[in-house]
Amino acid sequence: MTTRLTLPRPDDWHLHLRDGAMLAGIAPESARHFARAIIMPNLVPPVVTGREAQAYRDRILAVTGAGFTPLMTLYLTEATDPADVVAAHRDGIITAVKLYPAGATTNSASGVRDFDRVRGVLDAMAEAGIPLLCHGEVTDPEIDIFDREAVFIDRVLDPIRRRTPELRVVMEHITTLDAVAYVRSQPERLGATITTHHLVINRNHILVGGIRPHYYCLPVAKRETHRLALVEAATSGDARFFLGTDSAPHADDAKESACGCAGCFTATNTMSVLAQVFDQAGALDRLDGFVSRNGAAFYGLPVNEDTLTLEKTDSRVTYPARIETGAGPVTVFDPGFPLYWQVAQDARS
Ligand code: DOR
Ligand code: ZN
Repeated sequence: MTTRLTLPRPDDWHLHLRDGAMLAGIAPESARHFARAIIMPNLVPPVVTGREAQAYRDRILAVTGAGFTPLMTLYLTEATDPADVVAAHRDGIITAVKLYPAGATTNSASGVRDFDRVRGVLDAMAEAGIPLLCHGEVTDPEIDIFDREAVFIDRVLDPIRRRTPELRVVMEHITTLDAVAYVRSQPERLGATITTHHLVINRNHILVGGIRPHYYCLPVAKRETHRLALVEAATSGDARFFLGTDSAPHADDAKESACGCAGCFTATNTMSVLAQVFDQAGALDRLDGFVSRNGAAFYGLPVNEDTLTLEKTDSRVTYPARIETGAGPVTVFDPGFPLYWQVAQDARS
């Protein structure tokens, strides 16, 4: 028996597409299913000016074609010029600005050390209605890696929001009960993305029975109670929670190393895994909110008119274990359970 579910075409509100040969290899994996995506700016060097964002957007479109809309972001540094941010937004080049605390994650060295030094930019963004997308982890070496998100809320995020209440903020890739509770406690101007992989794995998946480098990402997956809180938030229908896959490819040799890079590559099977997770939670009727409606509403964009149909089959759906790119093979996220949902008429089939 086949069950079908048709949704407005989904969007990915947090995506790493990289550049060059990696971009060429992996962008089609997202463009196949998603209409739009918020594109992360943590290239080497990072995308810090409107002009750089425009050039990067053109490189993405050269790979994907016009059927996919990259929504560009700028990488916030202590030297960011508020006027450039506001002009890039006014001209339709950027949609948001990304805050990386310096040293928090991949290519974050140019990020923010002293949050007082970006006050002027945040004020200008609040005034112009430009959202701030937060990598929400402190980098204080005294703080345990599993506590870094919760501490960020108290030490950085809440003070910024109290000082600049008009600023629209997205807590990216939340991983804790604490973040879910914080979002729920704030009635306005705060949303949160949740990744596919954080709905599936907890920290045991990374560490039990051997280290699994392809499950290592940042923020690192937490204990099971946190994963359950994320599933509850994603499937609750609360419009403040929406999909941001944080699909973050690294070539396998960079992951399977003594100092492996952070990032799970989920673009290829994300819709299949999400349908399985929502089905399991008895919440298939809320999948469209999470993947197609809530994020658009937060960003003030229309829901896509185009649709995507998922189908559940009796036989297991399989995906390639890795995608070959000109920058090397990239392992596709393994959810660790069988998949029965797939995108109908996938370009692959
Ligand atoms: O796991 C991650 N990978 N988390 C991030 O914040 C960055 C990303 C990347 O760029 O690889
Ligand atoms: Zn990311």
